Amino acid sequence: MVVTSRDEAPATLKPEYDRASELKAFDDTKLGVKGLVDAGVTEIPRIFYSPPDDMDNSASGDTQFSIPVIDVQGIEKDVTKRKKIVESIRDASETWGFFQLVNHGIPVSVLEEMKEGVRRFYEQDAQVKKEFYTRDHLRPVVYNTNFDLYSAPATNWRDTFYCLMAPNPPKAEDLPAACGDILEQYSKLVMKLGTLLLELLSEALGLNPNHLNDIDCSEGLAVLCHYYPACPQPELTIGASKHADDAFLIVLLQDHIGGLQVLHQDKWVDVPPVPGALVVNIGDLLQASLLIILLITNDRFKSVEHRVLANRVGPRVSVASFFSTGRRPTSKIYGPIKELLSANNPPKYRETRVSNYAKYFSEKGLDGTSALPHFRL
Ligand code: OGA
Ligand code: NI
Repeated sequence: MVVTSRDEAPATLKPEYDRASELKAFDDTKLGVKGLVDAGVTEIPRIFYSPPDDMDNSASGDTQFSIPVIDVQGIEKDVTKRKKIVESIRDASETWGFFQLVNHGIPVSVLEEMKEGVRRFYEQDAQVKKEFYTRDHLRPVVYNTNFDLYSAPATNWRDTFYCLMAPNPPKAEDLPAACGDILEQYSKLVMKLGTLLLELLSEALGLNPNHLNDIDCSEGLAVLCHYYPACPQPELTIGASKHADDAFLIVLLQDHIGGLQVLHQDKWVDVPPVPGALVVNIGDLLQASLLIILLITNDRFKSVEHRVLANRVGPRVSVASFFSTGRRPTSKIYGPIKELLSANNPPKYRETRVSNYAKYFSEKGLDGTSALPHFRL
């Protein structure tokens, strides 16, 4: 991973230029960041320059910490083992908000083919790919660069396409030919895994195992397929700015390149690629529905901020599965779990429609601040 000081940042960092029209011209190419790399750019356009704070690497690469790796083999059969695993998931969710999962039941061959499928999508014929380029969230496949392109302070060095795979998956013929089959197969397996994780998280909170699934935390699944092209100047931009996720729970498949970091005790800690593993993290909505509640502190389960560094080596491919119905209008309302409230632990967040939360999150963009304070009582 390339970690460079910002001392030589050019004076052009200040947007003394017509940013809006440069964004529009870039968006109109419909070729994304990959299009720039294919055209052979050696200097990145200034729309990608990140504010120096985003690039703060002073606390990077601290080896004193590493995010927990949890092995869930045998969890369905062995009660004692399950108890131990629930214990480690609770601990990881309280202290990190992030953990890696091994022996999760999704075959390595499926993981590999999923990453291959994403690569095939981005590396296919540009004319075919352009057909999917859109900012219309009602399309079955939404491919573009940065969902917050026009509102974020800086553009991220990343292209993304996403599909809502539950509760109403697109018709097979509406999915990209490059990866439709594997996307359907992978989504079914991730849904099964997410359902299990929500059972374990319910148990970790001392609730009935079905609680979080019963309140439909696993109803919606958005699968985001990211492509971070090799970057000629990784010291000037970032793959994904610091953010927390707008979902209940996220299951992330990353390739071997690395660059994902989580903010832990004010230090950026690497989430190193582990072959065959999936990265799991708690999103804002789970934090909002659980935290509120908890006996000692509202910060028991954490929706932790994270980011992805740009890298001279690439592309990097990742697939982020968001358990949330947020990207489609839903009138469902979430608030503090009543069972966990008491006189000493009154609700701290107001009841909120997922759609309102999602609207606020997407208008705010990845600006480095949390969406949650907006919903505090
Ligand atoms: C995200 C995210 C990390 C990655 O999609 O919200 O943080 O490694 N992705 O791509
Ligand atoms: Ni994220």
